[in-house]
Amino acid sequence: MIPQLTSEQLLEAAHHYGTPLYVYHAERITHQFESLRQAFAYAPVRFFYAAKALTNLHILQHVHRIGADVDCSSINEVKLAITAGFMPQQILYTSNSVSFDEIAEARALGVHINIDSLSNLIKFAEANHGSYPVGIRIRPDILAGGNLQISTGHDRSKFGIALSDLPEVYRLIREKELHVRVLHIHTGSEIKEVDVFLKGLDLLFDLAPNFPHLEAIDLGGGFKVPYKEGETGTDIQALASAVQEHFYAFENRTGIDLEFWFEPGKYLVAESGYLLTAVNVLKRSGNIEFAGVDSGLNQLIRPMFYNAYHSIENLSHPNGAVQTYTVVGNVCETDTFAEDRPLNQVREGDLLCIRNAGAYGFEMASSYNARCRPAEVLFRAGEMHLIRRRETLDDLLHLQIPLGD
Ligand SMILES: Cc1ncc(COP(=O)(O)O)c(C=O)c1O
Repeated sequence: MIPQLTSEQLLEAAHHYGTPLYVYHAERITHQFESLRQAFAYAPVRFFYAAKALTNLHILQHVHRIGADVDCSSINEVKLAITAGFMPQQILYTSNSVSFDEIAEARALGVHINIDSLSNLIKFAEANHGSYPVGIRIRPDILAGGNLQISTGHDRSKFGIALSDLPEVYRLIREKELHVRVLHIHTGSEIKEVDVFLKGLDLLFDLAPNFPHLEAIDLGGGFKVPYKEGETGTDIQALASAVQEHFYAFENRTGIDLEFWFEPGKYLVAESGYLLTAVNVLKRSGNIEFAGVDSGLNQLIRPMFYNAYHSIENLSHPNGAVQTYTVVGNVCETDTFAEDRPLNQVREGDLLCIRNAGAYGFEMASSYNARCRPAEVLFRAGEMHLIRRRETLDDLLHLQIPLGD
């Protein structure tokens, strides 16, 4: 059975800690991780949780406890992962457009590194890091993902080393003894089609014989989870079987034995998260009924940034007659969470629950309009824990420096 928090638990959290509030469910993360682990049980596989989706230390610690490794997109995420208890060999650092200093720092910390540009790869080789095993991120020229903003592998994408630059990489391997241990791609987010992963995999398999020190293929993240009622996500079982077939065929053909790495973010944490928000204002305009809530794009930007769909329910009036509402936020932008959405009758003061808010929710929050970031709560083994207090005005002020005049 898929673990879900109940309405009672969510209402209890909101009453206890107020709104807006992010609530996470540890057992749901475990469930998602186990489904990956079981599907790929046949292979030497490692799952590096893409911490960028949600970096609260308690989430990182939970992910660590259940046996996942971690993928970090900045040196500070690396430091958070170390603080959460990950050992350097459990940490992967996959950054882009960073200064070489950050890569040198990651190297000094002893974590796995995926390098995303030829420029930094040359610096790495020339700084005599050649013997330090490294991964390279390749831009596979594959267009896939929920929409262009979350599509990262196409031929105009800023991510990765272009295929046309590979001869230069081969030169570094020959002349600078660059030790390329991992070939990495991340084609995008919300990729449902198994074929997209296979296309990327086959490309890396084709390149593999050019890398004498290769130990692993890293296919990144991007597994889709359902956001809409009735929608389906990536069929992990089908993906695992198809990868298995390609994997054995490659092994038989080349005699090369490789590990598989994945970097799931959304898949692990999206469905574990709920954003609870109270209705401040109802406003009718023509035939539109606005429900104005105490949150906004400063706290969950996905609907506005990516046009993402999040299902919403009225937790405090579950039996109200269904009507149509446009749910909007309270910042000075057009921050529409949902347009013309059927909801049980909404009254001012009602508590709405926005689902699948665990990934890129709190993590992309800002203090725009000087509104404070929400608190975060974790349910684990039925117990509710506050894992980040609500931000305060003092928090917003304390980095600002009085000029004394
Ligand atoms: C390099 C890399 N790996 C993994 C991920 C995680 O993607 P997702 O959350 O869709 O699984 C991302 C997302 O941006 C990424 O850029």
